[in-house]
Amino acid sequence: MTALPARRAARQLRLRSVTEADLDALALLDREAFPEEPYPYFVLRQMYDVYPDHLLVLDDGTALKGYVLVGTRPDKSRSWILGLGITRDERGRGYGRRLMEEVLGRLRGIGVREVLLTVAPSNAAAILLYETLGFTAEQTVRKDYFGPGADRLVMRLRL
Ligand SMILES: CC(C)(COP(=O)(O)OP(=O)(O)OC[C@H]1O[C@@H](n2cnc3c(N)ncnc32)[C@H](O)[C@@H]1OP(=O)(O)O)[C@@H](O)C(=O)NCCC(=O)NCCS
Repeated sequence: MTALPARRAARQLRLRSVTEADLDALALLDREAFPEEPYPYFVLRQMYDVYPDHLLVLDDGTALKGYVLVGTRPDKSRSWILGLGITRDERGRGYGRRLMEEVLGRLRGIGVREVLLTVAPSNAAAILLYETLGFTAEQTVRKDYFGPGADRLVMRLRL
């Protein structure tokens, strides 16, 4: 009888802006989400330095379970989703969608007109998520977008 409320409590994920104290946990989370191409720690650190308000995390009180990172042009004409990741054990529960909807709402609120992102052409789950959020993919995959062999699909949403 006591285990269930405890488990429920653990599921109460709070969506908040990242803090400097989160950076180690964020690097671990990013490595889990993108084992083959994680951001180097220094890049995450500098992203935090530049975009603290556009780096959102999902926190269950003991660990970070997801993050989304966005970069916005100074004239706010365009933003890029630079990272979206959910820990393996929490996928398929709507958290990726929740992070994306929150960030898109914030971008709309500050007047951003267009959001772009890149996704590996084989990443069916992410592509479906983005399509259901209204993103459309370019007709052709961009070859070697992130260097030799790293092809990407570019997707775009008009806000
Ligand atoms: C892609 C990712 C962020 C999705 O997060 P998530 O929390 O698991 O996704 P959600 O539960 O919010 O699902 C949202 C939608 O994504 C799609 N989706 C999620 N998991 C899926 C799966 N296994 N197969 C197909 N579609 C899937 C569905 O359209 C789903 O909508 P629905 O709930 O109405 O069916 C997550 O799988 C992840 O972190 N993957 C590794 C890192 C990554 O690939 N990031 C994106 C890089 S561009």
